[in-house]
Amino acid sequence: MEQDIAGLKQQVEYLQHQLHKQEKMASLGLLSAGIAHEIQNPLNFVINFSKMSVKLLDDLQEIVEDCADKLSEDDAADLEDISADLKENLTKIQEHGERAISIIRGILLHSRGKAGEFLPTDVGQLAHEYVWLSYHAMRANDKSFNITIQEDIPEGMPKVMVIPQDLSRAILNVMNNACYTVKERAAQEKEGYVPTIAIKLDLQQNGAEGTLRIDITDNGMGMTKEIQDKIFENFFTTKPAGQGTGLGMSITYDIITNNHHGELLLTSEPNVGTTFSFIIPVKIAK
Ligand SMILES: Nc1ncnc2c1ncn2[C@@H]1O[C@H](COP(=O)(O)OP(=O)(O)OP(=O)(O)O)[C@@H](O)[C@H]1O
Ligand SMILES: [Mg+2]
Repeated sequence: MEQDIAGLKQQVEYLQHQLHKQEKMASLGLLSAGIAHEIQNPLNFVINFSKMSVKLLDDLQEIVEDCADKLSEDDAADLEDISADLKENLTKIQEHGERAISIIRGILLHSRGKAGEFLPTDVGQLAHEYVWLSYHAMRANDKSFNITIQEDIPEGMPKVMVIPQDLSRAILNVMNNACYTVKERAAQEKEGYVPTIAIKLDLQQNGAEGTLRIDITDNGMGMTKEIQDKIFENFFTTKPAGQGTGLGMSITYDIITNNHHGELLLTSEPNVGTTFSFIIPVKIAK
């Protein structure tokens, strides 16, 4: 009896904790969508005016060139230096403005609240494409870095009903983190370490329905219990400013649990690696 009550109390505490977490996420989601929307317009102004200023500067440079014979050599050189600096500054404003816009798009996409459509999807093909998309995006920034990708995707899987744009984003988010963490570990381990990411798909079919399981495993840094507890919260990141917004995993959580009514499991150990598993109930496409 006493044990029952203790168990019940524990369960109530757990549910209260979950509820609190969900409330926090919901209000943050709404708030961030509102702020993101409001910031988008002034940011677009910043970007467009800096683009226009680059064009004006080109015109100005042409006029200066036409008047070159009226200027001393020093003045001409100064003018050239100043306009080159101005152009560089304007390009930086544009670049960073565009980065801010892309963060905001991420927030808006996350909190848009609209449900995507379930479509017959070749998930094997989709997973394969997005794993390599993430790999190539990482390689675009650092050509010298290699990762061993292990794919275990059964052939001849039937198409299943999922929201393809959401599922691909979830795979991409997990893959991006996996690429980041194996790279981080490679920088520390130096010799003998082979950065490896494995993706495994499985479909257990039961008549017209089934369970789709996607496991993505990396041998990166792994996570402490404290980090694992926070990873699905909006804006939780351990990455340096500018490298992470802390939205990837909360978006993924949303996609798997809310949009696909599935489960997102996480197992992780520091200095060993991490596995994310998506377990999704699916209808087999007709
Ligand atoms: N595979 C992983 N290995 C180790 N740590 C991870 C892994 N995936 C996520 N994390 C930790 O969880 C944090 C949150 O991840 P999340 O993807 O939500 O945000 P982010 O990667 O920091 O930023 P972004 O919004 O750009 O994805 C990361 O900053 C990192 O500390
Ligand atoms: Mg991420």
